[in-house]
Amino acid sequence: MARITKAVFPVAGLGTRFLPATKAMPKELLPIIDKPIIQYAVEEAVAAGITDLIFVTGRNKRAVGDHFDANLELENQLTAKGKHALRDMVRNIVPEGVNCMFIRQPEPLGLGHAVLCAAPAVGDKPFAVLLADDLMKGAVLPTQALVDAHERTGGTILSVAEVALEDVKKYGIVAPGNRTESGLWEVRRVVEKPEPAQSPSRLASFGRYVFDAEVFDILRRLKPGAGGEIQLADAIDDLAGRGRVMAIENPSKRYDCGDKFGYLEAILDFALADPEYGAPFARLIKERLADQEPVEPTPKLTGTG
Ligand code: UTP
Repeated sequence: MARITKAVFPVAGLGTRFLPATKAMPKELLPIIDKPIIQYAVEEAVAAGITDLIFVTGRNKRAVGDHFDANLELENQLTAKGKHALRDMVRNIVPEGVNCMFIRQPEPLGLGHAVLCAAPAVGDKPFAVLLADDLMKGAVLPTQALVDAHERTGGTILSVAEVALEDVKKYGIVAPGNRTESGLWEVRRVVEKPEPAQSPSRLASFGRYVFDAEVFDILRRLKPGAGGEIQLADAIDDLAGRGRVMAIENPSKRYDCGDKFGYLEAILDFALADPEYGAPFARLIKERLADQEPVEPTPKLTGTG
């Protein structure tokens, strides 16, 4: 099977959970210390051999384009100040041989609709989809695992991770069939946000996928689903019903940076792992925790009757 070289980055959502930060700035430019989350996703894709980056942007998203575009004025000023390492870092945000394309989603009609907007740029080739608010940390990242698996099997492949039973209602949960020798699950169905008692498994799908171009035909036919939006999950469920979907476990740690708590956890872990300020940051946290008043135990409620 031909290797995947195209990736779609839908960045046209409203990011309401991070308002007011996202009133004028796209959620995808929220930084983990000094690097925006969309840049982590781009680096993950490029490391997996992707050479065509297709961004589906919306209102307020010009800044994403600016981030990946050359900024000669800034480069010249950094050169003049002798800050060559910084200049080279800014210059190489998009490595040589990697192309960026920007497509506009006129209205935020859903993730499925955003992916469909990329169809003219993708053509009839298989492609990856990365949602930047799922941030990964580890030696092997899920896009690499997906692209490698697709080379062997073709078809649609989801990256999945086991979640706690009480968390299944936050995700699309996979109903797995057989497991192949290479460790891929066959996917029979994807159930959106099930109640724990009805959940077909604890394997949750999140923002890393590879698709064959056949997904576009399904997305074109789809009626709006939950929230009146064209849902990518509905297209995946349609493909799964026809035996066209597999799943592979995420080999890395995932942070849900679309959620404030997940974003804080990512900042904490990335800061602690930093070679320069990881150790002093750990000391600072220990000091702060030691300063805290001991937490009073929650009083036991006594019945009145
Ligand atoms: P989310 O469900 O996280 O929605 O979208 P959101 O608007 O970004 O954030 P909240 O929930 O309001 O805080 C998942 C991904 O799909 C993209 C988003 O940009 C995000 O990467 N998306 C969603 C689109 O590109 N277009 C849409 O119409 C909807």
